[in-house]
Amino acid sequence: MPFDNRALFPFTADVNARDHLSIGGCDTVELAEEFGTPLLVFDDATLRGMCRGFVDAFASRCADSEVLYASKAFVNAAIARIVSEEGLGLDVVSGGELAVASAAGVDMARVYFHGNNKTPDELEYALDVGCGRVVVDSFHELALLNDIAKRRGVTQDVLLRLSPSVDPHTHAATTTGILDSKFGFSIETGDSTTAIRRALAASNLDLIGLHFHLGSPIFELEPYAIAIDTVLSYLAQFEPEGLDMREFSPGGGFAIGYVRGQLPPAIEDYAEIITSTFKRRCEDLGLGEPKLIVEPGRAIVGRAGVALYTVGAIKRIPTVRKYVSLDGGMGDNIRPALYGSEYEAVAAARMSDEPAEIVTLAGKYCESGDVLVRDVEMPHLEPGDVIAIPSSGAYAPSMASNYNLNGRPPIVVVADGEARLIRRRESFADMMALDIS
Ligand SMILES: Cc1ncc(COP(=O)(O)O)c(C=O)c1O
Repeated sequence: MPFDNRALFPFTADVNARDHLSIGGCDTVELAEEFGTPLLVFDDATLRGMCRGFVDAFASRCADSEVLYASKAFVNAAIARIVSEEGLGLDVVSGGELAVASAAGVDMARVYFHGNNKTPDELEYALDVGCGRVVVDSFHELALLNDIAKRRGVTQDVLLRLSPSVDPHTHAATTTGILDSKFGFSIETGDSTTAIRRALAASNLDLIGLHFHLGSPIFELEPYAIAIDTVLSYLAQFEPEGLDMREFSPGGGFAIGYVRGQLPPAIEDYAEIITSTFKRRCEDLGLGEPKLIVEPGRAIVGRAGVALYTVGAIKRIPTVRKYVSLDGGMGDNIRPALYGSEYEAVAAARMSDEPAEIVTLAGKYCESGDVLVRDVEMPHLEPGDVIAIPSSGAYAPSMASNYNLNGRPPIVVVADGEARLIRRRESFADMMALDIS
C-alpha cells in the first residue's frame, strides 16, 4: 500500500528500507522496542517547522504580531523550551501550566493567563511569577484581580475576553465564542460594554487589549473574518472613553488533518484572512493598529505527534466487526470517546502491505466506548504488530489520565536519527505516590 496519508504525518515521516515507518530518521518499530508502547513520538522538525510557519506567515503580513503557543494542547518543560526557542510566547490556563512555564525558564512577560474561573490562589501565583498578561474572563475575576494588585501596590496588564456570538462550525464542546458559552463577556448581552468600562476605571489594572477565541478546530476561514469585523467595529466606540487598545487577539483554533479526506487550510490562508481583515477594519474605523496576537495550540503539536501501540487480543464477531485491541486507549487519548474524533492508523512494520480488511482498533480500558479508530482499513494484523496513529500530538497527551490505573505513556522527541526521552513512563509507584494509607 503506498504511504498515501503522508499529509497527516510529521514532515520527516518516511518508509525505510525495512518497510518500517520512520520519523526524524528513527525507525518507529525500534522506538517501540526501546521505549515500550504505548509511546508518543514528537518530531522536532515538525514542531519547530510549525512554530516558524506561524511566526513567518503572520510577521510577513503584519510586522507587529506575536504568536503564542496555547499550552493546553500539551506542555512540559521540554516543549515549552522548544516553542520559546522558536520565538513563541505562551498561553496558559492554570497555575500548573504557569508553573511549567516558569520552571522551563520561559520569559514570563510573554505569558498570557487565560481561563474562565481562575482561582484567587492562581491569580496570586500569576503575580508572584510576573505573568505578563492576565486575560480577564468575568466580572468576578475583574474585581478579584484588581483587589490583589491593589494589595500588592502593583498595576497588572490585562486583556478582556469577549464573546462575539460567532459560530465557527466545529464540535459543540469546543465552540467557545457563541452566546451560550461559559467563556468571556458577551457583546450581544452588553456585558462586554460594562466590563470594558469597569476595567478602564479599575485602579490597579491597565486594559491593554481585547481577545476572543471562537473554538477549535476551525476548518473554515470566514468565521475569523466575521468575528474580527464584528469585534473591531464594536470596539471603535470606546476610544473616546479612553480605551487605548495596544493588543488585539483573535485567539487560536487552527485545524490539523486527522483523516485524509479532511485537510485544513494552509497556515498562510489563516494568516491572510486574519491580517487582511484586521488591517482593513482598523483603517476603515480609523483605529491605530494594535499588536496582533494569535494562539495556535493544536496546529503546533498535533501533526508533530505520532502515537505507537502494540496489537494484543483480536476478537472477530462474524458479519459484525473485528476488534483489534491495542495496549493503550482512552487513558492516553480520550478524544474519540469524548468528541467522537476520528483518526487513521498504519501498521508501522509493514508500510507497503495492501489493506486486507476493515477493523476497529479498540483500547484496553474497561469501557465499550474505548475505541481509538472505528472501521479502518488495515493489512492483516497479528498480536505484536506495532500500530502508528498520526495527528496524536495535541490534546491527547494533555488530557491523558490514569484511568484503570494504567500509567501514562512516555514521550520522546526525535531528530536526526536520535530519540530523546522528554517524559518517562508513569510507574505503579508514581500512581500511588500521593496516596496516604
Ligand atoms: C483562549 C484560547 N486560545 C487558544 C486556544 C487554542 O486552540 P487550538 O489548540 O485549537 O489552536 C484555546 C483552546 O481552547 C483557547 O481556549
